[in-house]
Amino acid sequence: MPRPILQREELIRDGAYINGQWIREASEYFEVIDPASNEVIAKLPDQNVSAVNDAIDAAYDSFQSYKNTTPRQRATWLRKLHSLMIENAQDLGQILTWENGKALSDAVGEIRYGASYFEWYAEEAPRAYGAVIQPGNSSNRAFTLKQPVGVCGLICPWNFPSAMITRKAAAALAAGCTVVVRPDAQTPLSALALALLVEEAGFPKGAFNLVLADKHTPEVGLALCESPKVRKISFTGSTNIGKLLMRQSSSTMKKLSFELGGNAPFIVFEDADLEHAVDQAIASKFRGLGQTCVCANRVYVQDSIVEKFANLMADKVRKFVIGHGLNEDTTHGCMINSKAILKVEEHKRDAIEKGAKVVLEGGPLKELGPHFYSPVILTDVPQSAKVSKEETFGPLCPIFSFKTAEEVVSYANDTNVGLGSYVFSRDINTIYTVSEALETGMVSCNTGLFTDSAIPFGGVKESGFGREGSLYGIDDYMVIKVITIGGLPKKI
Ligand code: SIN
Repeated sequence: MPRPILQREELIRDGAYINGQWIREASEYFEVIDPASNEVIAKLPDQNVSAVNDAIDAAYDSFQSYKNTTPRQRATWLRKLHSLMIENAQDLGQILTWENGKALSDAVGEIRYGASYFEWYAEEAPRAYGAVIQPGNSSNRAFTLKQPVGVCGLICPWNFPSAMITRKAAAALAAGCTVVVRPDAQTPLSALALALLVEEAGFPKGAFNLVLADKHTPEVGLALCESPKVRKISFTGSTNIGKLLMRQSSSTMKKLSFELGGNAPFIVFEDADLEHAVDQAIASKFRGLGQTCVCANRVYVQDSIVEKFANLMADKVRKFVIGHGLNEDTTHGCMINSKAILKVEEHKRDAIEKGAKVVLEGGPLKELGPHFYSPVILTDVPQSAKVSKEETFGPLCPIFSFKTAEEVVSYANDTNVGLGSYVFSRDINTIYTVSEALETGMVSCNTGLFTDSAIPFGGVKESGFGREGSLYGIDDYMVIKVITIGGLPKKI
């Protein structure tokens, strides 16, 4: 069975990281599984509330001095961390593939993408400007400061085991906040390897803490949300868990950022470059086998080109090489677990029962392992199908047809979430009017891959709020203070 062959074996850690110490001791342990081989690859401490409280205390104590470090000093640590991630990208990519199942090329891409947030926020740290204000009273002057909000709890998902941590931690550490990270129990090894590099980059003790929890996840989440020492929670994951964390955080009135589920419409007009639109739809739909929050979930194609579009897509998808992510020729790896496969099967069955036609049958690839699944393409999917309302988070590509821009915009917006969306057309008027009408936080035109540390990532409606990356992301970790000076003499 493939096992990573690393340049630096010490990047595979076996304990949590709290206050600069690696903690292996616990009363219980949990297993990490390689989803491709279904073999146990690590046993890690399943920490409880007492451990998370230690991490919160460490972050709180560290914050008292970390908040007073200069932005330039923080930029130096962040830049060093970026370099360390790039130097170790192959090792980190292998660890990520091993625990998540995505193809190695995607995993190394994620490491580079994740590292870019440290580079970006090294550059943003010294640029957190305030404003000078003339209040109504002529003998007063006021100015604003942006100050770090305090200790931040960062609760991170399994689909980007590295980049979703770096996207949050980079902005927080740049702002002058300290953090307690809780990675998903299915993919903690990438987070732990990152913690080692944080240590090597020279960040002060307690600035970055990482707790591990599987069975104890609900108590650990609750402790982070209810602790008065934690001033902010940032969470990427499902809308239901986001709502729970929001309720739990209300008793201490925390600042919150939520990047929750999406249901991205991918709209292709008949004047689009067909081959390009198909390639980009594949890149968006099947990135991580459909397991990203911005993957195309519903593909809307103008009725005159549906057949051509679907057949071309099927021809290209048949060329995928599905296998263990660590195999050199693999283009697409496996799903994270059996539950994820059940959801794909449920959406496929439901759409077919309601009249959808099968263009590519797809389905389980049991000969490769329990979590392998080959992509499905359907056409004639009716709006009543479950997949039009719910995110599949898997390799099912349902193609719906539409006639007019007005019609497709109303279909696209007919959902309670709004994260990403896509529009393909050569007509600038269509691009503008449709983009402006779509109820999503991000619209990607004529490209299926748009995420970047330079752009603000985030949603509207029940996809959450807050922005990660870009010039805006650091504000999610800062509060504005105004200082007014009164009693000044009359102007000369
Ligand atoms: C996500 O799935 O939430 C993240 C996708 C990305 O940043 O590219």
